[in-house]
Amino acid sequence: MKIQKIKLLNFRNYDNLELEFNPCKNIIIGRNGSGKTNIVEAIYVLALTKSFRGTREDVIIKHDKDITRIEGEIKDKRKESFKVILDNNKKTVKKGKNVIKRISDYISNINVVLFTSEDLKLIKDTPNTRRKLINVELSQFSNEYLKYLTLYNKVMKQRNMYLKTLYLNGNASKEYLDIITNQLVDYGLKIYEYRKEFIDDISIYITDIYKSITNLDNLKLAYKSDYLNKTKEEILKAYKRSNNSDIRNGQTSLGIHRDDFDFTLDGINLKDFGSEGEQKNAIIALKLAELELFKNKKGIIPILILDDLYSELDKVKINNILNFINEDTQTFITTTEITKLSPKLKRGSKVFKVKNGIVEEVKYEK
Ligand SMILES: Nc1ncnc2c1ncn2[C@@H]1O[C@H](COP(=O)(O)OP(=O)(O)OP(=O)(O)O)[C@@H](O)[C@H]1O
Ligand SMILES: [Mg+2]
Repeated sequence: MKIQKIKLLNFRNYDNLELEFNPCKNIIIGRNGSGKTNIVEAIYVLALTKSFRGTREDVIIKHDKDITRIEGEIKDKRKESFKVILDNNKKTVKKGKNVIKRISDYISNINVVLFTSEDLKLIKDTPNTRRKLINVELSQFSNEYLKYLTLYNKVMKQRNMYLKTLYLNGNASKEYLDIITNQLVDYGLKIYEYRKEFIDDISIYITDIYKSITNLDNLKLAYKSDYLNKTKEEILKAYKRSNNSDIRNGQTSLGIHRDDFDFTLDGINLKDFGSEGEQKNAIIALKLAELELFKNKKGIIPILILDDLYSELDKVKINNILNFINEDTQTFITTTEITKLSPKLKRGSKVFKVKNGIVEEVKYEK
């Protein structure tokens, strides 16, 4: 899958920007704050309809404007145009000329794997951050996943509300709680299955990839879930056991909303004991494993974005990473330091130079 063109209106620090990309490697250079990440962020938003930076969706709209539009041409088996329009807080997404009503139906169309310095928090951060990553990946993998997740969250809200009702009114029906719980577990098990398979699959690749980056063995990924290896009956029993405390707390204490995953290196948990370097390598290995998974399971090569990799890792590791990436993978690399790029990489890439929101192509002698 390749992005051939992008056209931006009022996106971050760009008024109007149109770029044509190389099907293989694209390098974006420029000083801090010039607008490099903004370009790759636009590609990400085109794919996932929202940014990986910030929590408010409207931060991507240029200051003092109220609408932003991102248009892109994607070539996979066929060529197709996509659009994401954010007008104040109303979002419209289009595939070709058609407005796609459900975001979950849109998101699986364009596949990107992104590495950014924000990801470095992944291992140390709260489980919520790690679940978010899984959700982003799986919703690109399957539009069913996001539907089930939305349904699960809806039912969980209902359940929490009903727990509060039960707390205030001891006579309210307990059977109704069982009905909601049963529904919750059905949706939860669907999500569990997707996540379990995803983590099992990633685990197949991640050890070898980690080894090819660092020459060290034994990075493993482990899924943690209340539902892990349990039957539906066992899960329902566990809910029953926690009913009373759930009612007291007004919250559902069990479920896939508490899922997490761990990285271990030679059996040692990276969260508690890993060095910063080990964590960075583990995260980049995870991203590259996702890439492999897309290729092998979906037959699709996602667009790979490596934002600011050079400031995060040493030269040897970066070379190992770049050697790992196949010529068929369209790759975007942003960096402040052109001198860190090898002449071979510069010659084989399309290089864009960004200065205060102006983007120019730089030519190198072949
Ligand atoms: N909504 C917005 N409207 C206008 N400008 C914005 C908006 N959001 C961010 N910017 C500007 O975009 C610039 C940052 O761009 P970006 O994050 O792409 O920089 P960068 O080149 O990746 O820098 P670094 O090397 O530090 O990562 C900043 O100058 C910031 O003020
Ligand atoms: Mg940046």
